[in-house]
Amino acid sequence: MSVPIERDVATLRQKVAAWRREGLTIGVVPTMGALHEGHLSLVRSALDRADRVIVTLFVNPKQFNSAADLAAYPRTENEDAAKLAPLGAHLLFCPDGDAMYPPGFATTVSVTGVSEGLCGAHRPGHFDGVSTVVTKLLLQTGADFAFFGEKDFQQLQVVRRLVADLNIPVEIVGCPTVREEDGLALSSRNLRLSAEERAVAPALAGILSRTADRIENGASVGEALAEARDAMASAGFREVEYLELRGEDGLKPMMTLDRPARLLVAAWLGETRLIDNVRVAPKR
Ligand code: PAJ
Repeated sequence: MSVPIERDVATLRQKVAAWRREGLTIGVVPTMGALHEGHLSLVRSALDRADRVIVTLFVNPKQFNSAADLAAYPRTENEDAAKLAPLGAHLLFCPDGDAMYPPGFATTVSVTGVSEGLCGAHRPGHFDGVSTVVTKLLLQTGADFAFFGEKDFQQLQVVRRLVADLNIPVEIVGCPTVREEDGLALSSRNLRLSAEERAVAPALAGILSRTADRIENGASVGEALAEARDAMASAGFREVEYLELRGEDGLKPMMTLDRPARLLVAAWLGETRLIDNVRVAPKR
């Protein structure tokens, strides 16, 4: 069994229209490929929820900050299609660059507020690129449900915001982060880690979860964050780009745990940037 691959927007729309005539619901899982268990968990959630599931694979040049990073991004379409087939996904949409951004393309979707700070502060233009391509993918597929990982928590909030603001008729479903047994959040970037770095990497999730526990148990947020930064440096992280407690809804900075929050981090291990986040909630 294989997954049909579609590259053309007009044909994609015809297929979706045929499903709609049969009264079927449609789920979409946007990805940039190099699929791992994190992506596959989104596909499984989509299959539980919708009658037909479209996985999209597009390495979106507009969301990369450097040409080198874009060039280094893994492209494994055949392997990706082979991973999707046994799950029962119905269509793999792989538009090429020109189909997505034809000559003369001049529109940017830009979300303020939730896109600022955190990854937004360190990756200029990144969330404009994400917002623009996600808007296009949602409009192209016309899906009823779209599935995004909490691994990229700020991205999930940006997508929720643009869908609400632009009245796009789709339900955004957030899915929990899938981790290795040692706690490391799955990411295509993990493959870039040397054996030594790979041994250090799980410390990030460990420190996050201990810090979350401490804050939930009443520790001062400022002190807990400062100690967590020290612990990351001692574990071998070269630089902590950000480590912040933010409100779960709207991502406003928080210094007191008075409502559900997220503890979010980006840190560099050698030449690899890792991100992760965990929930932190006041005890009732
Ligand atoms: P990509 O990095 O390929 O991720 C696709 C989806 O998989 C995102 O929703 C991401 O949050 C989710 N994901 C990645 N690792 C995960 C993990 N360990 N557990 C759970 N979900 C995980 O994110 C993008 O692509 C792009 O920005 C995209 C939304 C496709 C727009 O180009």
